[in-house]
Amino acid sequence: MTENTSSDPSRFAAGYQTYRGLPPLAGLGGFVEAVRPGLSVEESVRRLKRHHYAFRRLHQILIGHLTAEPVYELKMAFSYHGYLAAEAVTQLRARVGEMREPPLGLDQTPHPALALAFDEVLGAASTEELLLGIHEVLLPGLEEGLVRHERETHLLADQPTRRLCRLLQQDVREILEYGRRAISALVTPEQRAEAQTALETVRSAVAAAGGIDGTQATAVAPRPFRSAVPWRFDPKPRRDERFQDPYNMGVNAEVFLYDETRPADAKVLMMFYKRLREIDVPEMMASILVETPDRPWGYYRDMTRQLWDEARHAMMGEVGFVSVGVDWAQNVRVNFTWSLGLNTQLAPIERHAVLYFIEQGLMPRTGKRHEWEVGLRSGNALAATFQDFDWADEVLHARVGRDWYVSQMPSPHEAVAYGDQCWSRVLMGWTAWRDQGLTRHENWWPAVYQQYCERRGLTPEADSLAYGVTYETTRADLRDVSASG
Ligand SMILES: [Fe+2]
Ligand SMILES: [Fe+2]
Repeated sequence: MTENTSSDPSRFAAGYQTYRGLPPLAGLGGFVEAVRPGLSVEESVRRLKRHHYAFRRLHQILIGHLTAEPVYELKMAFSYHGYLAAEAVTQLRARVGEMREPPLGLDQTPHPALALAFDEVLGAASTEELLLGIHEVLLPGLEEGLVRHERETHLLADQPTRRLCRLLQQDVREILEYGRRAISALVTPEQRAEAQTALETVRSAVAAAGGIDGTQATAVAPRPFRSAVPWRFDPKPRRDERFQDPYNMGVNAEVFLYDETRPADAKVLMMFYKRLREIDVPEMMASILVETPDRPWGYYRDMTRQLWDEARHAMMGEVGFVSVGVDWAQNVRVNFTWSLGLNTQLAPIERHAVLYFIEQGLMPRTGKRHEWEVGLRSGNALAATFQDFDWADEVLHARVGRDWYVSQMPSPHEAVAYGDQCWSRVLMGWTAWRDQGLTRHENWWPAVYQQYCERRGLTPEADSLAYGVTYETTRADLRDVSASG
């Protein structure tokens, strides 16, 4: 168009016109940006590997703390954020694999100081310190690197990377927003002050690594503080004070649920309990994930997805109770006996076997379809929605079990038999716990059913109100103890 353009390409680019002013370059951006060279494949891959490392370690930290974290809401948030981190890892691996690099070397540590930063947060001395480390140091650093990568790499040549960086920023911001609110709800000024040395160590380690993305000047790494002692996974599930009686096995939900004579709406209430009790599945699955090293990434991705689904099922139970005006914290006794038993008595592969065995039992006759039909019959549309999706999730979990557990066994039959055998080895101390004064196995059901009926102006069905079958009796009942499903 104008002459003398070779001396000022960006001026030419600024004046360059598309056909009748249509958005240029499929809408990716303008020519002024597009004529700049951007990053090389090598540099873009280097940064992708840094993001990948950060999400992988974040996943490890969140999943690693979920079981022993007492606060229910945080357990659920760690499950979700761990899942988001696992999805990010999966997408980043895929992108690296597209960049002339087989996705090898992804298990290497990009910089020792970066490893130190994550080790420090992993070893946080309290929940508050953990939240501060994740949300005020690691994640903001990760977000910064993703923003920089999106801005600096070529908008056209490296568009798939830019898109990925933008999507990942969205997830990181969602996690950060949760963190901001969690910190303002939980962390006192004193706790913040107590965490100062630990946080400074994390900050210095990130700086020593040249930032999370390694684009800044590096420096000498600080001495390990929290990570001076290697972190150890704590397999014992913990619950906050709303779980007043975590050893309570006083109300057998399954016997009630599969009893044809019970009214459908009372069964719905029992299903809400079964769903909420599923808190124990993420607690247990986290232990498998942490204690099973060296499997292909797909294993961790799929197991983390299932873990998050089970956390969602628990929250569906919570929502269910809220929807019918039942105060679960006051009136329902949600136990942790299943995750406690499995985590402390079985090896990781044995826990997986039990999970698979129980989930197999959930599918046919008494299983997920039945629960969905109960939801439909009860006229409770919310329960029907929840059970509909719960069933769909369960079909996915059966696939996860086949891919990663059954595939390791000689045959599907032996896979189920082994799960059965492992489950029968788990000692549930129904009597011992009572004798030690840990629980009275109080029958909490009548009060909950009564409260439910009062809110709805209904008369409780007398026989269901008197229901008092516990988990003491038979092994067959114990099979279904797990909330898993
Ligand atoms: Fe479930
Ligand atoms: Fe499940």
